[in-house]
Amino acid sequence: MLDAGDLVVLSGPLGSGKTFLARALCRSLGVPREQRVTSPTFGLVHEYTGSLPIRHADLYRIESAAELRELGLDAARDDGAVLLVEWGEGYQRELGGDALLVRLALDPRRSHVSATGARSRVILERLSLALAAEPLDAQG
Ligand SMILES: Nc1ncnc2c1ncn2[C@@H]1O[C@H](COP(=O)(O)OP(=O)(O)O)[C@@H](O)[C@H]1O
Ligand SMILES: [Mg+2]
Repeated sequence: MLDAGDLVVLSGPLGSGKTFLARALCRSLGVPREQRVTSPTFGLVHEYTGSLPIRHADLYRIESAAELRELGLDAARDDGAVLLVEWGEGYQRELGGDALLVRLALDPRRSHVSATGARSRVILERLSLALAAEPLDAQG
């Protein structure tokens, strides 16, 4: 359901599955199995190419909007990259706004998905329709 320039912000405590979900999204966007998708915690940003260019970022160590701008994520997004951003909830404006916001909780494991703009609302709507047609339990 993701398209060029979409922003997915993944939030939730350590171990709640942000990287796990980012990896799953990379796979479904066609990043080949041979290519490992690991946590970008120390490198801050990893780049992949699937059916679209992808940037997977972890902003845990970012301390200011200025520092974030140096990563060029908003520019990559403008160029058509899908952004998957861990710990990005406080930087949505700097990332260009209109985020699909996925909040993960650990105990119990839960996810809450919301949209902050027109484009992300389209994704959310498609997601609700898909889940209504085939609930997660039925997908295994
Ligand atoms: N939905 C899930 N159910 C069970 N285990 C999960 C789930 N999501 C992630 N994990 C496991 O939890 C661990 C931490 O997940 P990770 O994605 O690195 O968390 P985060 O990036 O939020 O810190 C990994 O070993 C991963 O396999
Ligand atoms: Mg992580």
